[in-house]
Amino acid sequence: MNNSLGVYIHIPFCSSRCKYCDFVSSTGGEDAMREYVAALKGEIQARATDYVNYTVDTLFIGGGTPSALYVGGVEEIILHLRRSFNCDFTEATVECNPESLTENKLDEYISSGVTRLSIGVQSLSDNTLSALGRRHTAPMARQAVSLAVESGLDVSCDIMLATPYQSPHSAARDAEELSDMGVSHISAYMLSLEQGTPLAREYSCGKYSYDDDCAADIYQAVADKLHEKGFDRYEVSNWAKEGKECLHNLKYWKRLPYLGLGAAAHSLIGNTRFYNSHSIEEYLEGARDSSYPVIAEAVLTDKEEEEELIMLSLRTSSGLDTSQMGKEGRRYIERARRNPRYFNTHGDKIVVKDEFIPVLSQVTLLLMD
Ligand SMILES: C[S@@+](CC[C@H](N)C(=O)[O-])C[C@H]1O[C@@H](n2cnc3c(N)ncnc32)[C@H](O)[C@@H]1O
Ligand code: SF4
Repeated sequence: MNNSLGVYIHIPFCSSRCKYCDFVSSTGGEDAMREYVAALKGEIQARATDYVNYTVDTLFIGGGTPSALYVGGVEEIILHLRRSFNCDFTEATVECNPESLTENKLDEYISSGVTRLSIGVQSLSDNTLSALGRRHTAPMARQAVSLAVESGLDVSCDIMLATPYQSPHSAARDAEELSDMGVSHISAYMLSLEQGTPLAREYSCGKYSYDDDCAADIYQAVADKLHEKGFDRYEVSNWAKEGKECLHNLKYWKRLPYLGLGAAAHSLIGNTRFYNSHSIEEYLEGARDSSYPVIAEAVLTDKEEEEELIMLSLRTSSGLDTSQMGKEGRRYIERARRNPRYFNTHGDKIVVKDEFIPVLSQVTLLLMD
């Protein structure tokens, strides 16, 4: 039997560190990148033997900044994946930053079978971009998005909400402009102030202030604008035109199997979660002695799996399908029906009402024991 598998590949390199980011990445040069890609190829080959009964139908190359890799790097990785795993991509995404997406790289991605680009625009206002410590300006973001849309690939853009100098009006205007440029998917993430980052320090010393009500207004303004532009919200932070949802990310929310390769990459296969070292150096050491150790592995109990499924499914607009959950499923439906203020129920499905998405975690608790 052949099962579908999503593959995530982490590229932990960026041209510089943004002020808010605590993702695993470094600013290494081409030698460091080549060493990493070689390690990645080793890991791909080593893991492939466990997945002969799977077909990789979604691929997501994320980071860090995959478009910051040397020319030919992404192609090398995809070719190696195709040689080692059964691959039949329905969707293959590469994350790109505006300053490093060039025509040459676009050609490389297209000839490697990439179908989708996810561009880190974050904002179309220069003062916000500069406060975030981004390397690109708004005109550079517009140019990268136009280039990507003209290539014919599906284009998604990341924007950030509740950032310095942003208002509900400016956030909605950014979403509108991206939509008018032909982008078919938008991920809009609420700024999370990560401990130890320069931006978190600037907030704590009073350079900027964060206001929950304003953040909620910004989210709502973007949601309303995207709805007006023909996008549907299919997950808390994700909007798409019909048929343009990210199939790979949907696997995370549906708990379908995915394998993460590279430093800090996480996997879920059946009821087992595991991940690679978050330290790039430790990851490279594992490659040098061909041990490719997973750092932690957790086999989930039935109860834990069920709780995860509830929490993740309620993030999506298709909601929680209780039809396969037996007696427990009927209990969840009953609880949802007892709380009609927060939940819609359609047959066996439970969906959180749009207006309670900003307080999703509290609402989810109403279904749990
Ligand atoms: C890890 S980044 C990788 C993509 C790419 N390097 C970039 O910066 O555009 C993925 C996305 O996460 C979001 N992100 C990263 N740190 C964040 C934070 N502290 N708060 C909110 N969103 C964040 C940004 O929108 C970013 O585009
Ligand atoms: S936000 Fe993206 S470009 Fe900026 S440091 Fe994080 S991963 Fe790198």
